Amino acid sequence: MKFFRDWQAWHDLVNRVPRVSNQYSTNLYADQAQLARWGEKGRLRVEAIEGAVLLLRRDRDFDHVYHVARDLPALQQALEALPPGRYAADLIGRDDARHHDLCSAYRAAGFDPRTHLRRMIRKRAAFSLPQGNTAVATMADVKCIAAFLDRLLDRFVEQVPEPDELHEAVSGERLLLVRGSSGPTGVLMYDLTGQLAHLRFWHVDPQSRGAGIGRRLMADFLSRCRAAARTVLWVIGDNERSIAIYRHYGFEMDSLLDHIMVRNEDQRR
Ligand SMILES: CC(C)(COP(=O)(O)OP(=O)(O)OC[C@H]1O[C@@H](n2cnc3c(N)ncnc32)[C@H](O)[C@@H]1OP(=O)(O)O)[C@@H](O)C(=O)NCCC(=O)NCCS
Repeated sequence: MKFFRDWQAWHDLVNRVPRVSNQYSTNLYADQAQLARWGEKGRLRVEAIEGAVLLLRRDRDFDHVYHVARDLPALQQALEALPPGRYAADLIGRDDARHHDLCSAYRAAGFDPRTHLRRMIRKRAAFSLPQGNTAVATMADVKCIAAFLDRLLDRFVEQVPEPDELHEAVSGERLLLVRGSSGPTGVLMYDLTGQLAHLRFWHVDPQSRGAGIGRRLMADFLSRCRAAARTVLWVIGDNERSIAIYRHYGFEMDSLLDHIMVRNEDQRR
């Protein structure tokens, strides 16, 4: 297992994976800037065998797995060779045989399905919610927000943001909150790239749900992103309440799925 430092070596490894088979597969969608950020922090490791390369990204107490593979047997072999540990992979695709085969390769290598996310999209729409009067988070809020999200998110499923991601969101005024007496009661974080907005996190403290805090955050988010042609988000597939609320705000279900597969050696013992 090599620590990831050398871009040329990485490109050479990936370029050695033949792309001729219709079983060629990857779940690595990060761009070079994102990879560089992870690499600089020393979070990436690489494992390569004939026909498949795995990129492992350290996150708290587990690794996210990204693959580039000639075909599914090569992928399965590479996954089976991983040392004992905790791993999670996001497998994005449509609900078709190809995607099921990919999930099966992970299952055969000891990964279990944890849950699935579904993509929802909202097209630009006439906007009529009253202002939410939420606060834009400052650097002083980052520690509390990190603890709030850590408490509410499933780390295997929801790509919990690191403090530096929160700092960037604060700098870009993309982190909104409603403050309570002892920390945030609601947080919403988003990305805005050109005409595309991405709702990353929208969470209200369980004790304060159903009282209008989520609406205030959503109102200010939609107002700030009113120029975006599309707003996308990923929601846990069986979270019926949130799906209903998103529909209420004009989001529609898309056909893309993200199956989260987890291999947890601690549970297997
Ligand atoms: C989703 C969540 C952020 C909403 O926050 P909230 O404070 O509970 O929501 P609110 O009370 O402000 O209600 C928001 C809106 O949804 C509507 N709503 C509530 N329940 C609904 C339901 N079952 N169906 C449709 N609409 C519903 C409310 O009427 C309100 O609409 P309005 O703006 O027209 O008044 C919050 O419940 C939460 O943190 N849930 C768990 C985490 C989560 O699922 N996050 C999002 C997906 S990852």
